[in-house]
Amino acid sequence: MKIVVTGGAGFIGANFLNHFVPKHPEHTFINVDKLTYAANLGSLAEVAKADNYRLEVVDIVDFAAVDRVFTEHQPELVIHFAAESHVDRSISGPRAFIQSNIEGTFNLLEAARKHWSDGAGLFHHVSTDEVYGSLGDTGMFTESTRYDPSSPYSASKAASDHLVRAYARTFKLRTRITNCSNNYGPLQFPEKLIPLMVLNAVEGKPLPVYGEGLNVRDWLYVVDHCEAIWKVIHEGEDGETYNIGGNNEVRNIDVVKEICAIVAELSGKPKGELEGLITYVKDRPGHDLRYAIDATKIRTELGWEPTETFATGLRKTIAWYLDNPAWIEQVRTGEYRKWIEKNYDNRG
Ligand code: NAD
Ligand code: TYD
Repeated sequence: MKIVVTGGAGFIGANFLNHFVPKHPEHTFINVDKLTYAANLGSLAEVAKADNYRLEVVDIVDFAAVDRVFTEHQPELVIHFAAESHVDRSISGPRAFIQSNIEGTFNLLEAARKHWSDGAGLFHHVSTDEVYGSLGDTGMFTESTRYDPSSPYSASKAASDHLVRAYARTFKLRTRITNCSNNYGPLQFPEKLIPLMVLNAVEGKPLPVYGEGLNVRDWLYVVDHCEAIWKVIHEGEDGETYNIGGNNEVRNIDVVKEICAIVAELSGKPKGELEGLITYVKDRPGHDLRYAIDATKIRTELGWEPTETFATGLRKTIAWYLDNPAWIEQVRTGEYRKWIEKNYDNRG
């Protein structure tokens, strides 16, 4: 089978390709990626040598380019990861989110409708639990929770989910959607909470916790997310949505303290010294208090279970960042430094 993987040079896409390309030589994986700041071909060094891997440097906002990919490769499956993904960037510059996440998804759906008029292909849309908005202290998101996005990022993902459902209902396109909780693991761009805190702790820099650090996220190890997507593609049903989550609800401050403890253990620095770097900074506007996924549907209908607990996955992740200084150097371009200055200076 020919499989288009959009956004394959980003965090989750690269983990997906690294995991599945070697396992499935019978499939050809075509990575369609614009290579934004968040992409890193260094994450795909091994996969790039494989016979069943291709790279197409394409902006999905360009319909002609997307159409050409469908014509040339004739994929039977699209796994759509490509998106602008960082909430804070969507606050300081929402336009790219509207373009890539909404218009980009629309272009892929249009190309799928055109090239798969016989119902041959399957469109798998990778989305987030952030479309459901914020929970209070209790409750969990199910597949029927009302959409209520808070940030330009989550609103753009919500819009893309709606488009996917509309194409399923109106044009009978074969689609599936997964809404997943916060991922962590190797290859994550260090603007996101966990890699940012790990690198700052290692370098003795302040650990900037938004607000009081009481917001809760439901953390899932990235490879568990990738396995869930593969399961939905192979065993799920058309037109269905599946929530994916790790049942690992942790307050941000506790994530940061756990990172300090593991970095201390692995690097030999005193834990107290690292915790002393914790700095409470101005909160994110519209900051969702709590996310928690009820993953009963994928667990009971498809038998998916995560393999990592937060404790085992976090340790693996931190060890990976400590062991891969060359990868970290590669992503810390001038653009990265600009972002850090813009987001954290004046945050107090
Ligand atoms: P990422 O920011 O690390 O990577 C995104 C990738 O998409 C990059 O390689 C980038 O170059 C590419 N891309 C962006 N705009 C593009 C465009 N216009 N054309 C082609 N390529 C483009 O993101 P990620 O964390 O790997 O997330 C991947 C997907 O999973 C996203 O759709 C995101 O909404 C979803 N998701 C992420 C999480 C999470 O915790 N990271 C959780 C649930 C869902
Ligand atoms: P993030 O990794 O940006 O993921 P998301 O906003 O998609 O959940 O942030 C995770 C949590 O960590 C979120 O509640 C915001 C918080 N956070 C900080 O406290 N400090 C930071 O520097 C960052 C980037 C995030």
